[in-house]
Amino acid sequence: MTSMRQFISDIKSNTPLHPILLDEPVSIDALPTPALTIDLNVLDSNLKKMQNHIDDHGMTLRCHTKMHKSPIIAKKQLAHGAVGVCCATVSEAEIMLLGEIENILITSPVVTEDKILRVMSMAKQSDDIAIVVDHIKGAQALNKYADADDINLKVYIDLDPGMGRTGIRPGEDALVLGQYILESCPRLNFQGLQMYAGNCMHINGFEKRQSKYQYILQKGLETKKLFESKGIPVPVLTGGGTGTYDMEPDIGFITELQAGSYAFMDIEYRDIGGQEKEHFDDFKTSLFVLTTAISQPQSTLITFDAGIKCLATDTAYPEFKDVEGVVYHFGGDEHGIVQLNNPSRTINLGDRLSLITPHCDPTVNLYDYYYPYRNGLVEEIWPISARGKSQ
Ligand SMILES: Cc1ncc(COP(=O)(O)O)c(C=O)c1O
Repeated sequence: MTSMRQFISDIKSNTPLHPILLDEPVSIDALPTPALTIDLNVLDSNLKKMQNHIDDHGMTLRCHTKMHKSPIIAKKQLAHGAVGVCCATVSEAEIMLLGEIENILITSPVVTEDKILRVMSMAKQSDDIAIVVDHIKGAQALNKYADADDINLKVYIDLDPGMGRTGIRPGEDALVLGQYILESCPRLNFQGLQMYAGNCMHINGFEKRQSKYQYILQKGLETKKLFESKGIPVPVLTGGGTGTYDMEPDIGFITELQAGSYAFMDIEYRDIGGQEKEHFDDFKTSLFVLTTAISQPQSTLITFDAGIKCLATDTAYPEFKDVEGVVYHFGGDEHGIVQLNNPSRTINLGDRLSLITPHCDPTVNLYDYYYPYRNGLVEEIWPISARGKSQ
């Protein structure tokens, strides 16, 4: 028998956090499949490219870790120059903190006692835990528990970009919340505004995406000016993502970019289109599902050992990295049936091929481990420490 609190604490303490070093390097051709692999050369280059862009435009990067769920990768992003990380859930944040990542913003509000107590427990361990609020009730509750624990908690006001998901309406409503925090919540330190327009990130076509994004962020800009006109400084404007990273400098609202997917990339992002190009390929694919051809019941089809249990998707289908003239169809939980239209290479039983994932975030959440490789060799295995940590 155990208490709920003990159960949650045990989950945390049993979470693997560190790389597992292999006694000798293993070729990716010898990995058990399906395997979630990372091309480290590409990952490094994506991290560097984003950080250079951020530095060149006087912004900061607070990368979103909801995508990779790994303190090991977060450390790499911080080493490249990110100022901190974002987490989507309290349990992701707990894992990042356990993995020695200290500057964390939880980008979704919490309102219940159980979650607030967990936030307070993190804030006791680190001065750099922050969370968004989008309602007076949430602010009241956070302030009450912070006061009880003698904590000063950093908060950002989350603005609804029109999605109706989280956030308060920009403008007067946000101002009322801001004034309430400043006047009635002495334990909450107002840091700035968050506006994450998730409704823009995957709009197809650069111009279309940019024009809707500009329109939406205008409301954020007006809110910032409104705060300032009432004497409330707004030091940080946090938000944005991979799909808008190159629009932020012209719009001039976001000071701190929350991009996540740029590190791995996926088909859904590739297909949104780039500036004057069909594909958005400013960042290259570093994440793949390695899969093996295991059966060929019909000559024009061949079946791989990767189905919907290892390739999450909302809209797109997986595609092979280096093979043209084939079409992947989901063949159930464990299988992908590949149609051999006019394959650019022969595919035989036992062959291992890499698939580009349709949507990296939920795909990562299906695996326990990454197999990172450089030049075809895996030297260590990385636990996906925050996988399944949705609470
Ligand atoms: C609040 C928030 N910020 C940033 C991001 C990162 O977006 P992307 O992976 O598109 O870079 C997300 C992703 O869903 C998010 O929810």
